Amino acid sequence: MKFCIETDPKNSWYLGTRKFDPLKIDKSETIMYQGNGYLGIRACAEEKNLQEKRDMFVAGTFDSFDDEVTELPNLPDILNIKFEIDQKIFSLSNGVIKNYHKYLNLKNGELIRQFDWIIDQKRIHFKFSRFVSMSDVHLFVSKVEVESDSDVEVKITSGIDGQVSNSGTQHLVEGDRRLYDGKIIQLRERTQRSNIELIFNVLHKIYVDEVLLNSKPHIQMDRQKIAGDYQIKLLRGQKLLFVKYANVYTGIDSDVEEDDICDTSIGDIKQHSLGTYAELLNKSARAWDLNVWQRSLVKIAAADITPQVAINFARYQLAANTPPDSRMNIASKGLTGEGYKGHTFWDTEIFMLPYFIFTMPEIARNLLRYRYLGLGGARKKAKSNGYPGAQFPWEAAWPTDGETTPPWGSADIVTGEPMKVLSGFLEQHITSDVVIAVMEYLYASEDQRFAKEMGYEIILDAAKFWASRLEWNLSQKRFEIDNVIGPDEYKEHANNNAFTNYTAHWCIQKAIEIVKLLRNSDPEMYDELNFKLDLDEVYQDWLAKVDLIYLPRPNEEGVIPQDDTYLTKKKINITPYLSDGGHAKIFKKYNLQQVDNLQVTKQADVLLLLNLFEGHFTQAVEQANWDYYEPKTTHDSSLSLSTHAILASDLHLQTKAYQYFEQGCEVDLGTNIGKTTQGLHMAAVGGIWKMVVLGFGGVRIVDGKLRIEPNLPDTWDSLQYQINWHKSLVKVFVDHDTFKVEVMGNGIEFINHGKIYRIAANSKLELPIEIQVEVND
Ligand code: BGC
Repeated sequence: MKFCIETDPKNSWYLGTRKFDPLKIDKSETIMYQGNGYLGIRACAEEKNLQEKRDMFVAGTFDSFDDEVTELPNLPDILNIKFEIDQKIFSLSNGVIKNYHKYLNLKNGELIRQFDWIIDQKRIHFKFSRFVSMSDVHLFVSKVEVESDSDVEVKITSGIDGQVSNSGTQHLVEGDRRLYDGKIIQLRERTQRSNIELIFNVLHKIYVDEVLLNSKPHIQMDRQKIAGDYQIKLLRGQKLLFVKYANVYTGIDSDVEEDDICDTSIGDIKQHSLGTYAELLNKSARAWDLNVWQRSLVKIAAADITPQVAINFARYQLAANTPPDSRMNIASKGLTGEGYKGHTFWDTEIFMLPYFIFTMPEIARNLLRYRYLGLGGARKKAKSNGYPGAQFPWEAAWPTDGETTPPWGSADIVTGEPMKVLSGFLEQHITSDVVIAVMEYLYASEDQRFAKEMGYEIILDAAKFWASRLEWNLSQKRFEIDNVIGPDEYKEHANNNAFTNYTAHWCIQKAIEIVKLLRNSDPEMYDELNFKLDLDEVYQDWLAKVDLIYLPRPNEEGVIPQDDTYLTKKKINITPYLSDGGHAKIFKKYNLQQVDNLQVTKQADVLLLLNLFEGHFTQAVEQANWDYYEPKTTHDSSLSLSTHAILASDLHLQTKAYQYFEQGCEVDLGTNIGKTTQGLHMAAVGGIWKMVVLGFGGVRIVDGKLRIEPNLPDTWDSLQYQINWHKSLVKVFVDHDTFKVEVMGNGIEFINHGKIYRIAANSKLELPIEIQVEVND
């Protein structure tokens, strides 16, 4: 695979660059992002650069400005350190830079940048190292080592700079600036509208040749800014070590009482500063190891190291962008950039959640709890559209906010007018996507407690919405769903989008099953839910409607119509418009209205339905739809690629599967500048794990049962992964001849090519890889 970043053939945890390229700076800042899901910092340099995008976010601190929808504010900069050497301000665009090397260690989350700076015939060696702690979510530590080949005067200015904005929008109101104990620098601010208190503390320690200097900062204050100045005389051959301990607390933190955050934050920074950088890094590295690497192990044995780098990158980013607090969810860009305002989409449920369901069920539970907490907002949205039940928002921020999709998007290329964003109104499949995720979690975890406390209520209320959303078509004598946007956002106002109809029907079916189950097995629970949701009344309605819902069936060629009119639209050759990871090329020629009239699909739609509803359609139908829709799909959404890779793998289209796998891994890591500057494509990141474990590893949940049918790429020697199933850990080892399944914990059952296999508690089973007929693709 071709990445925009250097890899090391011997170390799959390494991502680096040996060239400072100001034009690609944005992209590497995104890829080398550091975070722990609470706090996220882009990999900008400590010193400021013109081309950079300096962003730091804390999950959940949403704020709005005027009538705009809420967004995550870019928070005061705790990263910035300014160096002046003999009165010359250090910058990469100043003097000569030699031996530049910046690299991220995915294993422990440490980012290092080192080089020699040659200025006025002096050579100064800088080494910057830093990490966002995985063990103490509020903590960020950075250190700078400086050596010079001649005696120099070093001036360091470091602190907290609140003069930041979100591409122009200022979200923060100035608060106090203080110095505690003569050494702790503090800035307190508040978000404008949401009024969330934010506290930032910084403490510096300076050593020369390992001797701690007793240096008090000379404080500089400016509007929304506080920093300390330090002057050090550094002799040739001496080593200066500057350590910056920083922490961030907010009024919405769940681990601290709001009244205590200031004291706690001060106490913590004092305590942390007793530890060395290495000690704190080790503690964080242990958390990475225990919480992430050991639990989501994936090992690919292949001559090419890049697939292993990609899966390590995916697991790193999923951990670094997932909030530890269930009132928050993963944004479509994580905490890595301003794109999509920090909002959460179906990207979580369909593309990221499978990873957590199978490796860290308690985190999957948290992410679904967020939807439970969002029921209020979902009910509000349904009500405002005239429906009962819960209609989940297309874009979500704080769970109770309800819909947060901005009403306006970019300009139309034909008319020049700003285009209305209809997804918030019409992209209704999100309600089913949440239900699909809840069911998958329940199937995999058998977490009855979650089902009773939250899961059933989500499903039942979603079904209430869908049942009332159905429209009776008198002439056809069936219920239909008109005027929606399906996953293919190039078809606005579609009638009977297959994905929407099938998934809505399925939701109602699941709700009916739950009512039956509860009435029989847990009448008390049923009464409780009945009281809240009027189940007795709606249940009859569901029964009356469910079999009359129109489900577009495969036509004579086996093709499921994406919607009522898709198959009648004009066909064009989409080759010139295939995505290269940048902006949608189709819009250089057509506007959205024109694309609406073409058989051009933005991203997997019917194909995603086939993938999610595995077992509901024959392989012949899957093949027919693949043959029909794949050549019409531009993949303008990065979400498309993983679905195509998995489906191609299922259909034994090895070459295609691998091509899509590579493209899926290259969404952010690849050489296209694309939109990575606005943040990572977290659904594509989740897609990397899906392609490896669900695709090549062959794991699937089929009607609630585990299926394992591996399909190893030719160029790989073996694949090893582990998943959680029914509270047991299942380790799978695949090579070209056999696959072994080892269970740690209770026995499990799984399906392989139609046969059910049972593995007893703590034992293993080895099966031959069923020889597949090679399909010429
Ligand atoms: C895609 C959506 C996705 C959103 C956020 C859009 O371009 O079409 O499916 O949810 O991006 O990632």
